[in-house]
Amino acid sequence: GRVAVLAGGRSAEREISLDSGREVHAALRALGVLAEIVDPAEVTVETLTGFERVFIALHGRGGEDGVIQGVLEHLGVRYTGSGVMASAIGMDKVRTKLLWAGAGLPTPEFYVAGTAQPPELGYPLMIKPAREGSSIGMRKVDNAEELDEAIRAAREYDDAVLVERWVSGPEFTVAILNDRALPAIRLETPNSFYDFDAKYRADTTRYLCPCGLSEQQEGELKELALQAFRQVGAEGWGRVDVMQDSDGRFQLLEINTVPGMTDHSLVPMAARAAGMTFEELVAEILLSARE
Ligand code: DAL
Ligand code: MG
Repeated sequence: GRVAVLAGGRSAEREISLDSGREVHAALRALGVLAEIVDPAEVTVETLTGFERVFIALHGRGGEDGVIQGVLEHLGVRYTGSGVMASAIGMDKVRTKLLWAGAGLPTPEFYVAGTAQPPELGYPLMIKPAREGSSIGMRKVDNAEELDEAIRAAREYDDAVLVERWVSGPEFTVAILNDRALPAIRLETPNSFYDFDAKYRADTTRYLCPCGLSEQQEGELKELALQAFRQVGAEGWGRVDVMQDSDGRFQLLEINTVPGMTDHSLVPMAARAAGMTFEELVAEILLSARE
């Protein structure tokens, strides 16, 4: 049967999604699958009933947050990745962190901007729109003036803005594929954090895999990422981003239920380190599509 690769959409991550979609589509074609790219911003969703499976390569709101997942459930079409609830939670950094903290998993202290009597977290701080991706709208701030300005800027993307304690890093990311954690990747950037530029434009970003942790530490990191993935109720595949604090403890930053699949994205890199080609990765994700 035919496979639709959903890519594009209306979120701020539209262009990244189109890149992910093109790569996934090319891989499916190379595998001999009859695949087409479908942009939900340009078609009526009923079109999707004509496909046997849908590979969701949409990032951000409308595509990664449970909305399209709910539509596909309603239409009875099989789709890749997490279901409605885990997608909705995973898109929202505030809800994700509340859930992890409630389960006793480590995540940096935070408050929602506008909270009366917020906790004293010192400086620097990280400011993040609650429901964005690719570091869009994020800033590191060093004083109260920058904090107010960064909150205003983040509100352009979401009414809910997260103010998070700064964690020195290094930053790691762990790809999850069908309930196993792939080799961790360490991210190094001369930028003040792993921002949009470091992710997609700069050639100064370094990706270390093997990640340089001891076998035991990497084992702990992978186990933490798996727990974080399961606590959210995520399924199929995803990626958990983690910082290591100055005391050596790992701190969970966020989960991505539809991580990037561009040619310099992290899940494909981790899969390669695990001995899988991009085509094999795409095939495994597609085969795990839920009913
Ligand atoms: N939100 C981007 C696509 C990622 O996590 O890879
Ligand atoms: Mg994200």
